Amino acid sequence: MTRKLFVTTALPYANGPFHIGHIMEYIQADIWVRLQRMLGHEVNFVCADDAHGAPIMIAAEKAGRTPQQFVAAVAAGRRQYLDGFHISFDHWHSTDAPENHALAQGIYRALRANDLIDVRTIEQFYDPDKGMFLPDRFIKGECPRCGAKDQYGDNCEVCGAVYQPTELKHPYSALSGATPVLRSSEHFFFRLSDPRCVAYLQDWTQDGRLQPEVANKVREWFQPGPDGKPLLGDWDISRDAPYFGIEIPDAPGKYFYVWLDAPIGYLASLTAWFAKNGWDVDAYLADPALEQIHFIGKDIVTFHTLFWPATLHFSGRKAPDRVWVHGHLTVSGEKMSKSRGTGISPLRYLEIGMNAEWLRYYIAAKLNARVEDLDFNPDDFVARVNSDLVGKYVNIASRAAGFLAKRFGGETSADVGVEGRALLDGLRAHADAVRELYDEREYGKALREVMLLADRVNEYVDRAKPWDLARQPGMDTALHDVCTVCIEAFRVLTVYLKPVLPALAAAVEQFLRIAPLSWADAQRALGRQHIGTYRHLMQRVEPRQLDALFEPAPAAAAPACAPAPAAAAQALPGGEALPGGEALAAEIGIADFAKVDLRIARIVAAEPVEGSTKLLRLTLDAGEGRLRNVFSGIAGALAPEQIVGRLTVLVANLAPRKMKFGVSEGMVLSAGHADDKAHPGLYLLEPAPGAAPGLRVR
Ligand code: 2FM
Ligand code: ZN
Repeated sequence: MTRKLFVTTALPYANGPFHIGHIMEYIQADIWVRLQRMLGHEVNFVCADDAHGAPIMIAAEKAGRTPQQFVAAVAAGRRQYLDGFHISFDHWHSTDAPENHALAQGIYRALRANDLIDVRTIEQFYDPDKGMFLPDRFIKGECPRCGAKDQYGDNCEVCGAVYQPTELKHPYSALSGATPVLRSSEHFFFRLSDPRCVAYLQDWTQDGRLQPEVANKVREWFQPGPDGKPLLGDWDISRDAPYFGIEIPDAPGKYFYVWLDAPIGYLASLTAWFAKNGWDVDAYLADPALEQIHFIGKDIVTFHTLFWPATLHFSGRKAPDRVWVHGHLTVSGEKMSKSRGTGISPLRYLEIGMNAEWLRYYIAAKLNARVEDLDFNPDDFVARVNSDLVGKYVNIASRAAGFLAKRFGGETSADVGVEGRALLDGLRAHADAVRELYDEREYGKALREVMLLADRVNEYVDRAKPWDLARQPGMDTALHDVCTVCIEAFRVLTVYLKPVLPALAAAVEQFLRIAPLSWADAQRALGRQHIGTYRHLMQRVEPRQLDALFEPAPAAAAPACAPAPAAAAQALPGGEALPGGEALAAEIGIADFAKVDLRIARIVAAEPVEGSTKLLRLTLDAGEGRLRNVFSGIAGALAPEQIVGRLTVLVANLAPRKMKFGVSEGMVLSAGHADDKAHPGLYLLEPAPGAAPGLRVR
C-alpha cells in the first residue's frame, strides 16, 4: 500500500545562516524521505524559517532593518546550503507568511471556543527606556546564590542555580542597561492542566509512538507536583507589544509567543505547497491514512510532544503520528553552541570543495534511531569515506569498467556464470533487510550491511582475478562474465546507497544509461546493456581538506582591507611628514577610478572568526536582495557589537576571494596610519546620515 507521508524538520530561527547541526538533521530526514520516494510512497517534505520572537526583533533593530527585511535577507541565503547538501525539501516557507497568520489565529479561536484559554494578570520585568517587557534572556544581574555578576535572568552559568528573573540582585536590562521595573500585564494561557489535556497527552505520549527514552522523559510531566496536580502546568502563549509575531484575535497589543506559531508553520508550509500545486490540503490532512512525522533535536522535545499535539488535537486537527528525536552533533567530543554551531561551517565545507556526499555518508554511518549525540571526528571521517565508501563501493565499478570498454565494446553480457549469479542473488536477498533498517532510521546498521555486501563483491573479484583472465587466451567469456557481475553488483549496491548518495547515484544512472533507480530495481537484472564511459565517480578525501575545514587562515591570506603596508619612506624629501605615514600612490585617470564600484552597505552581522585574531566575518547588505560574506582584518581594532547595524563602504566588484575560512565577496573600507604600530587605530568608513545600502559612491 502506498504510504502518504507529511514530513518536516524543525524550523530554524531566521537569525542567521544554517550551522552544521541543522544540516545534520536535514540529512537524517532527507535520507528517510528519499527511501520512501524510492519505494513509491507519496511524500510531502517541507520546512520554513522560524521568523518570530523577541531575539529576532532585537537583532533586526540592531541591524537597522525591519524584522521582515531582516528575516527575508536570511531566507535569501538558504538555497545554496539546501542544494549543496542535496536536501530535497518540496517547499520552504516562513512562519511570518499569511498562511501562518491565518492558521495560528484559527487554531487559537478553536482552542478558545473549546474553553482552553485563560486570561490572567502576571507581573514581569519591564524596560522603562526601551518601553517593552523583557524576555528572561535580556535581563541580567547578580546571581542570587553565588553573587556572580552579569548572569542571565533564568540561570547562573557560574554556580548553575536556576531562578526567576525577579530574584536577580541588581537586575539590569541587557538592551538598554536600565534598571527594569515590575509591571503587570494580561497574558493568555493555554490551560494544559485541564483534565482533558492531561488525559489526552498522557495517552498520546505513552502509546508507543515515541522513542522509548523520549516517552520516559516526557512521562515526568505527569508526575504530581507539590500541590498534588501534574507538573504539566498552563502554558503562557502571549507576549506584549512590541513583539514580532502574530496578533492575537480580539486582544489589541497582544501577540502569540513564538513557540505557539512556530510549529503551526509546518502546516503553513504544507498549505502553501499545496496551494502552489492546486491541491486540496484539507482533504489531504483529513485522510486517515496520512502519517505526519516530525524530525527534531532533543532540546525541543517538550514543545513537540506536549504543546504541539495538544494545540492540534484541541483545535480539532490531526495530531502528529511520530516525533523522531535525534541527539546533537559534537565535534571531536566537544558540544556545540546552539547559536554559534560547532567549528564546522557548512558553507565553508562546500566552499573548500569538499563533497557533500562524504558528509551525508559519514553522518548516516553514525546515525541510529536513538537520541544519541553524534560525534564528528576528522580522522574517523577520512577513514570511513576513503576505505568504505570509495575503497569498497566506488572501486567495484572501476575494477570492471575498463575491461568492458576495451574488450567488449562497453556491453555487458546477457547472462553470467553460476558463481556470479549466486553472488548477485545474495546481494538482492538483502533488499528487505536494508530497507527496513533505513525505514527504522538505523542508518549506521544499514550502511554496515551494504559495506559487508561490497566486501563480498570485492572478494569475488579477488578470486576471479579479471586481470589474469584478460591475459589468458580463450578466457573472454569468463572475463566478460566477471565484469558484468561487477557492474550488476555495483548497480544493486547503488540502489541501496541511493537514499544517502543521491548525486552519486544519478552519476551511476548516467554511466549505466539507465532510468532513475527505484528500490524495486535491485531485483531486476540489467541484462545486456551498452554502458557509458566510466569516469571516476568519487575522489578520496584528503586529510589536508579537513585541516582546511578546521584550521584558521594564515595571516598572509587575510584580506587586504587592513591599512596599506607601511611605505618605505616616512618623510617627503624636504623632511616634511608624510600624510598618514605614506606617500600618495601613482596618479590615475578618472576611468581607472570608475572601474572600482563602491557601494554603501549595511553590516547586518559581524562575528569573530574562530582561530583568527585579525579577521571578522561580516554579513553585508548592499541592497542586492542577497547578503554578502566579507572577511575583514579589523578584528584587532573593532568589536562586532561596535559595528553591527552601521553603514559602510564596500568594494562591490572585487573578484571573490577564496580564503581558508570561506569566500570573501568584496572588501570594506577603513582608514589607518601606514605604521599601525606607532599609530594604532583603524577607522571604518561611514557615509553621512541618510545614505542607504546599494547607493554607489562616486
Ligand atoms: O529551536 C529552534 O531552533 C526552533 N526555531 C525550532 C522550531 S521547530 C517548530 F516548532 F517550528
Ligand atoms: Zn551563581
